[in-house]
Amino acid sequence: MTRLSGWFAAADRIDKIYWQRDPVMTNDNHLTFRQFMLREYRAHGTSKDLIFLLEDIATACRTISHKIRSGAFAGTLGATDDTNVQGETQKELDVIANDQFMLHCANCSRVAALVSEELDNVVWLKDKAEAGDYIVYFDPLDGSSNLELNISVGSIFSIVELKEPLAELTDEAVLIAGTEQICAGYSLFGPSTSLVVTTGQGVNGFTHLNGTGEFLLTFPDMMVPASTQEYAINASRQNYWDAPVQRYVSECLQGSEGPRGKKFNMRWVASMVAEVHRILTRGGVFMYPKDSDNAAMGGRLRLLYEANPMAFIIEQAGGKATIGGGRIMDVDPSSLHQRVGVILGSAEEVDLLESYYAEAQ
Ligand code: F6P
Ligand code: MN
Repeated sequence: MTRLSGWFAAADRIDKIYWQRDPVMTNDNHLTFRQFMLREYRAHGTSKDLIFLLEDIATACRTISHKIRSGAFAGTLGATDDTNVQGETQKELDVIANDQFMLHCANCSRVAALVSEELDNVVWLKDKAEAGDYIVYFDPLDGSSNLELNISVGSIFSIVELKEPLAELTDEAVLIAGTEQICAGYSLFGPSTSLVVTTGQGVNGFTHLNGTGEFLLTFPDMMVPASTQEYAINASRQNYWDAPVQRYVSECLQGSEGPRGKKFNMRWVASMVAEVHRILTRGGVFMYPKDSDNAAMGGRLRLLYEANPMAFIIEQAGGKATIGGGRIMDVDPSSLHQRVGVILGSAEEVDLLESYYAEAQ
């Protein structure tokens, strides 16, 4: 055995030991994100490249969290002079968060392209996109109108693995349905910073431990309760709602005396990440439906980096996610920043809304 082949054999042995050993819990009996992902690797064969990419995304989220928390000192909570492709004013932190995502995702040699709410077009990181390469879609700072108010905001991401090489590196080439996602997640920058991730094996929530800077597994196997007494909708748009949504909300408002026979609570944070986190924690339904005011745009929320990842997470947690007449993840995307209606949350409520949409056909 040459000295070099001996070195490779030893490296291979160490590699095997590392990936096969059951991690020792080091932080008050909470698995670190890395330890959890090692278990996922052994249990489900989760790709090592995906694990490393997720760790880079986690680093981006930790950095964004830090930048938000120091934004009042850095003077970055407010708007820039620019607008994004959707015509929305960009906040300084929108741009900072976008840079962080781009920087950290570029570490992974399997990432072929990035799609961001803040970028007009796809950013290609490779000359060729092969089968097995990843496309990462992200909304780097969702709910950023809440920044000056010190109300929760978040980052959302979705990862698709290419089944075939792409013939051309165009925007159209990354219009891939949500059913092809291999991973989705979000980070919520609230009183604490959470990271919630699915790789198609359920949903797990991690909390950032100040001090060590680790994300620790604090909410394993998150499940959306099947029924609920809470809904979320921007009620100022009621004039524009279509019949199914009018009916659903009116029945909720009638409380115990109405057809639902129970009282409902209403919440609207205006940060989708916070609404989804609440639904994952205590159930409920979130609606940003297509209405007569936003119908020309297709709805309000963007399919590829808002609706699809949240739909994947909610479905993996036992809930449902529709556009108001069909599953979100089944939508065949037609453009990069396409918008859709979004109804997601507890299965019973989404089913009821879907039955109202079916009746209204
Ligand atoms: O990115 C879209 C978003 O900020 C979501 O996070 C949130 O649910 C929604 O817009 C808030 O909309 P509105 O301004 O109508 O309350
Ligand atoms: Mn957003």
